[in-house]
Amino acid sequence: MVDHDYNAVAEAIRKILPNEDYDDGSTGPVLVRLAWHASGTYDAATGTGGSNGSTMRYKSEAMDGANNGLEYARKFLEPIKQQFPWITYADLWTFAGKIALEAMGGPQVNWAPGRIDYVDDSNVPPNGRLPDGALGQDHLRVIFYRMGFNDQEIVALCGAHNLGRCHKDRSGFQGPWVTNPIKFSNTYFKTLLSSNWVLQKNDNGIEQYYDADDDEEDLNERLMMLPTDYSLIQDPSFKPWVEKYAADKDLFFQDFAKVFAKLLELGVRRDPASGLAAVNYVGKINNPPSQKI
Ligand code: HEM
Repeated sequence: MVDHDYNAVAEAIRKILPNEDYDDGSTGPVLVRLAWHASGTYDAATGTGGSNGSTMRYKSEAMDGANNGLEYARKFLEPIKQQFPWITYADLWTFAGKIALEAMGGPQVNWAPGRIDYVDDSNVPPNGRLPDGALGQDHLRVIFYRMGFNDQEIVALCGAHNLGRCHKDRSGFQGPWVTNPIKFSNTYFKTLLSSNWVLQKNDNGIEQYYDADDDEEDLNERLMMLPTDYSLIQDPSFKPWVEKYAADKDLFFQDFAKVFAKLLELGVRRDPASGLAAVNYVGKINNPPSQKI
């Protein structure tokens, strides 16, 4: 059995995080988003989608509007794939999300290798399985219940918006959720509760919430919330969790670590003996595993 050095891969990932020419100086947030979008296509009822297979390598998934901008993340990781050809894309994308989160001050997340890369696009999930930021709590429940998450887990997962920003040329929304978007914390929940949010139309016609008391003139730098983020404080079942996480960073970190690990494992059906996710959703060997662990 080949002894694969995941510490070396982790080190290589940590090296590509600081990048002063990119966004707020770190590639970390977009790597976390790649790990999430690779996993968040899961449909528990049919067992389709999820992080196994790295199906976003195929055009139909890469071109889903929800995945706009993730080509940056995939490009950042490509030299690491070249350096460690034994790691599958499916493992690399999820592992990079975990390592980036931890390097940005987040909690330690359990992660296991063993995902395979499908050799064709026959298991690519349909477009439209990822959430639409323009909608509200009913939509969040449809999308995340489909993956098998409950209300508490939905709120915890949304805390990832403590990282990164929206890009007008990717999603049409703009701006960061917090003032330091490359440091993981529970600031997102505090800001969500304490700011004076007003719905405002961007010049592209897309509506989002801005902090009315933020006098930053550049709208791309003013603190913002998506309608889905804002819905968390409008909903009687979501709001208590926002309040708990705003008040208790340790509780948020503990719950986020659990739910992020669960997210990265969606759609991964492991053979108990090998740990490899060698079967597809109908239980057939999809293609020979491209690695041994
Ligand atoms: C609740 C439903 C969600 C919606 C509607 C949503 C929507 C969005 C949108 C519109 C963006 C901006 C994309 C861009 O313009 O570049 C974004 C960014 C981001 N999202 Fe979410 N998201 C959701 C949940 C999540 C979850 C569950 C995670 C991770 C666990 C996550 C992590 C991120 C990160 C890290 C970014 C920043 C990316 C960057 O800076 O390039 N999001 N999200």
